[in-house]
Amino acid sequence: MCGITGYLGFREAYPIVINGLQRLEYRGYDSAGIVITSNDKSKLFKTKGKVSDLKKIAKKNNLEGNLALGHTRWATHGVPNNENSHPHLSNSGNLVIVHNGIIENYDTIKKELIKRGYTFHSDTDTEVLINLIEEVQIKNNCKLGKAVQLALTNVVGAYAIAVYDINKSDEIIVARLGSPLAIGIGKNNTEFFVASDASPFIEYTKDAIYLDDEELAIVKLGKKIRVRKIHDDSIVEPNIQELKLNLEQIEKGGYDHFMLKEIYEQPSAIFDTFRGRLLADKGIIKMGSVDNNITKFLNAKRIIIVACGTSWHAGLVGEYLLEDLSRIPVEVEYASEFRYRNPIINKDDIVIAISQSGETADTLAAIKLAKSKGAFVFGICNVVGSSIARETNSGAYTHAGPEIGVASTKAFTTQITVLALIALKLGKLKGEISTSDFHKYLQEMKLIPSKVEELLKVNHEVEKIALTYKDAPNCLYLGRGYNFPVALEGALKLKEISYIHAEGYPAAEMKHGPIALIDESMPVIVIATKKGHYEKVVSNIQEIKSRNGKIIAIVTEGDTIVKKIADHVIEIPETEEAFAPLLTTIPLQLLSYYIAVMRGCNVDQPRNLAKSVTVE
Ligand code: F6R
Repeated sequence: MCGITGYLGFREAYPIVINGLQRLEYRGYDSAGIVITSNDKSKLFKTKGKVSDLKKIAKKNNLEGNLALGHTRWATHGVPNNENSHPHLSNSGNLVIVHNGIIENYDTIKKELIKRGYTFHSDTDTEVLINLIEEVQIKNNCKLGKAVQLALTNVVGAYAIAVYDINKSDEIIVARLGSPLAIGIGKNNTEFFVASDASPFIEYTKDAIYLDDEELAIVKLGKKIRVRKIHDDSIVEPNIQELKLNLEQIEKGGYDHFMLKEIYEQPSAIFDTFRGRLLADKGIIKMGSVDNNITKFLNAKRIIIVACGTSWHAGLVGEYLLEDLSRIPVEVEYASEFRYRNPIINKDDIVIAISQSGETADTLAAIKLAKSKGAFVFGICNVVGSSIARETNSGAYTHAGPEIGVASTKAFTTQITVLALIALKLGKLKGEISTSDFHKYLQEMKLIPSKVEELLKVNHEVEKIALTYKDAPNCLYLGRGYNFPVALEGALKLKEISYIHAEGYPAAEMKHGPIALIDESMPVIVIATKKGHYEKVVSNIQEIKSRNGKIIAIVTEGDTIVKKIADHVIEIPETEEAFAPLLTTIPLQLLSYYIAVMRGCNVDQPRNLAKSVTVE
């Protein structure tokens, strides 16, 4: 979490870094700060709050300078206040740092530095790190790059850092371990950009280097970037990549919020995810990464899916898909639990890691553990070149485009799309799906984007329902089979952006406890599609109704039975049961969105959250 960015070159650095921070705010928005250097003189502004608050503080000052670093924080060590905000200065005031990550042994280092006379103004691990760098530099009388490298060999934890000496305004030192870091390179090395992702600099350059773990880079004006491994000092030839991202993709494009834009992007996101893979008319699913490892997939005794949050919910849908269509046993694990419980992984197991950002620390650690036990790890990621995409043995991108709203929407449906393609492909090859059924599925999958498009027209109906229930203190979401994970996801969406307490349950579990909560003030959202254990769910609806609960039902077009019982119904187009989550989730996303807007919540940046969870 936390976003870092910086500029070194011939342009004014302030506007570039401030804009960059705004683009990185999805990574944390507890506090923000910037340091700008001109002719070896620096100005530092930092504040609790958002980048917009920082702009207000900075604006009355002279902000000239061609070198700057900025930071937007998701608090880990120390409460969000001005002192704990980054950038942090060393005791001499010469060195400045921005940091994303956690230095786990900071307390031991801090005590040692205090013994040597260092003083600290914040509670952060980052201030400890910059003073350690200063101490190492003084002790070894070395250049800054060397001092950073030596200091990092003494720290335990995760970091993406950018450091410079304000008396040497032509150089920034950057390094990473566990937290992402991209470097944008201007023409002939006349300017450089550093950032947690490439979004702060896409309008300036398409040439970028993504540092790997354990790498340190010396970014110096007029010089080629030099990259080294931190521990063994070996030189690394930097891999300059061409960025595919464009500015339009990371702007709101006329929508009030990124979340709404991303909900509406789902028809094209799903289409882009199966484009070139789903060849419905030829009756083929083509996925290079699966084809290249097909023996492993077909011989897999078990698939273990690891993920967090919404991606974990997509994994649950994956369990239904893979077991139902390809008859491979599946276990779905929270990455955070998996990594710490000495899991049994056999050599015929495949681990599938799902992550939108590709940077989630727990998922990354689960992958490393699975690999260390000899498993073949397949990634389903959205962010190209992300740590998880690089760490896995093979994988498939979701092609959803940048997801900026903190609440995940199009990532969920596109992850399910990839999982459905894999399940269908394996099912067909294993002889579990007949050729005619396979063709039926492929033709139906092709129609999903237009069905989602159609379904999005329910927005006004959903808005009215939102108005009725926006003040509810609690909410229950129920679904069965393929729609059970959708119920979990619907509840997560509501709680994270509207702060209404919500829970998702398999509909039949209601009678084992949650039914006690039901009274006339309890909205219950029930997914009751025709092909998903319909009669059973109808019985569950009756049980709620007889206790005066309020029913909002998601039903298949043309439903007549639930319509008579429910207080509100939202119709979805008919589809194969296996694809139902791609549709049933849409009205739930809209419902959370409208309720959150009506409650005056910050939809794109809900409190206490961050988009990319790079800490445990
Ligand atoms: C919920 C949400 C989070 C993420 C989770 C995993 O809307 O966004 O629950 O799904 O933090 O993130 P990724 O998919 O980036 O690994």
